[in-house]
Amino acid sequence: MAADGWRSFPDAPKIVHPPPGPRSRALLARQAELETDAVAYPGYFPIAVAEGRGSTIEDVDGNRFIDWVAGISVLNLGHRHPRLEAALRAQSERVWHALELPTEARIRFLEELIPVLPGGLAGRAKVLFTVTGADAVETAVSLAEYATGRAGVVAFSGAYHGVHGGAVNLTAGRRYRATSAFVGGRVVRVPFPDPYRSVLGADEGSAGTIRYLEHLVRDPASGVDDLAAVVVEPIQGEGGYVVPPDDFLPELRAFCDRHGLLLIADEVQSGLGRTGKFWAVDHAKVTPDIVCIAKSIGGGIPLSLVAYRADLVKELPRGFHLGTYRGNPLGLAVGVEVLRELKTTDLIARTARRGDRLIDRFRSFQADHPSIGDVRGRGFMIGIEFVDSPTRRTPWGDGAKAMRRALLQRGVLMHTAGAFDQVLRFMAPLVIEDELLERGLAAFEAALDEIDPAPERTVPAPAPPAPRSLAPRTAPVGAGGRPSPILPSGAD
Ligand SMILES: Cc1ncc(COP(=O)(O)O)c(C=O)c1O
Repeated sequence: MAADGWRSFPDAPKIVHPPPGPRSRALLARQAELETDAVAYPGYFPIAVAEGRGSTIEDVDGNRFIDWVAGISVLNLGHRHPRLEAALRAQSERVWHALELPTEARIRFLEELIPVLPGGLAGRAKVLFTVTGADAVETAVSLAEYATGRAGVVAFSGAYHGVHGGAVNLTAGRRYRATSAFVGGRVVRVPFPDPYRSVLGADEGSAGTIRYLEHLVRDPASGVDDLAAVVVEPIQGEGGYVVPPDDFLPELRAFCDRHGLLLIADEVQSGLGRTGKFWAVDHAKVTPDIVCIAKSIGGGIPLSLVAYRADLVKELPRGFHLGTYRGNPLGLAVGVEVLRELKTTDLIARTARRGDRLIDRFRSFQADHPSIGDVRGRGFMIGIEFVDSPTRRTPWGDGAKAMRRALLQRGVLMHTAGAFDQVLRFMAPLVIEDELLERGLAAFEAALDEIDPAPERTVPAPAPPAPRSLAPRTAPVGAGGRPSPILPSGAD
C-alpha cells in the first residue's frame, strides 16, 4: 500500500498499447484455441490480466485500467486489499480444506456475520454454507419449501438469480434459460415494479405488483395452487440496476406476512455495503426470512451462504444440502476481514455519500446527451440507461455497448446490464480513490461525446424524467458552472 493511502496503480488509466495489445491478443487467441466458445467476458473486455491492485487492473501489455466492474460486485474492497491478503496468507499456512469440520476461521466468521445480518435476523439466524450465488438461492428456495411444506415460489420479471439448474428457473432472461437443460420448476413470474419501464401501467408503482400477487393467492381460479416464498433482489442487478419504489419491499413483506409466505432476499450482488447500507434491504428496514449472500463476502475467494430465521424450522435433516467446497477455510478467513473492515471503518456511509454525488454527476451528463434516458441507483450500484429516444424510451443496447468499448480504449472498465444490454452500470470497488472517480468520469464524458448520436439527439431533448423511487436531485454546481467534484474540499 502506498504511503498516501493509495492502493491502486496511481497512473491509471494508462494506455500504452490500444487494447487488445499484442500480448493480450496472443493469450486471447490461445484461450480461444483451448477453451470453449462459451466464455463471455473476453468478448466484453478483450484484455489478458496481469495484476489487480486496489481499484485498478494492469493487463499483460502494461495498460492500466480503472476497474468499475469489480468482478461484478465481488471486489467491494478492491483487488488484494492488504487486510484480506494478510488473512489469506495466514490461513494458507494452516489449513485449506476441512469439509464442514469447525476451524477457528469458520467460527470467527459466523461470530462476525450473524450480528450484522439484516434487521431481525441479526443475532438470531442460522447459517448454511453454499459455494456460489446460485447455489445459495437454490438452497434458500429448498429451505422455504421444506419449512412451509408448500411448493412454488414467486420470482420477478428482470430477475437474475444465477444459472445453475434450479436457479435458472428463477432467472428471467430467455438468453440464460435457452441453454439450460433443467428449465422447469414451480416458479410464478410477476412483474417487478420498475419505475422507468413499468409493465403494469405508469402510475401503478408497487401497488400493481402487490395487487397481482393478491390475485394469485386469493383467486381460486388464478391458476396458481401453492406458494411457499417470494424471491426478490432488493435492487435488481443483471436486470439493469433497477431500484423499485420505496414502498415496494415493505409492501412485499406485508403481503408475505398476510399469506404465510417466506420472503427470500437475494443480496448476492447488492449486499455488503454496495448500496451504501450494509444490506440493500436496510434501506427499506425490512427483515427477510432468508437471505442469500455471496460475491463480496469472500473478497474474491468463492464463498456463499444462506442465513435464515432460527425459528423457521425445528431441525433440518443432516445433509439437507451438500457440496464438497462449502465454507472453504480460505474464503472464511478472508470473509472475517471483509466483515471487520466494513464494520470498523466508515466505508459504507462514505459509499452512500459518494454514490449520491456520483448520481448527480451522471445525471449532469443527461442534459447534453439525451441518449441517457435514466440514471438511478443507490451507493455504488448505479445504472445509466441508454435509449434511442428519450420520449419513447426505446432501449439502445448498441449505445451502451459502444460506450463499453469506447471506455475500454480510454482505460476504464464498465459493464452493461439489462434485457437489451442497454444499461451501463457503475459498480467500482467501494475503496476507490476520489481521483480515480474523477478520471473515470472524465473518460465517461469523452466516450459519450464519441459514440454515435442516437437518432433524436439532434432535436432538443425534453428534461430527463426523474425516477420516482429517488428524491429529485439537482446537480451541485461548482466553479465555472461545472458540477462539483465527487468530494467538495473538506466534505469527506
Ligand atoms: C442477484 C444475484 N443472484 C445470484 C447470482 C448468481 O451468483 P453466481 O454467479 O455466484 O452463481 C448473481 C450473479 O450475478 C446475482 O447477481
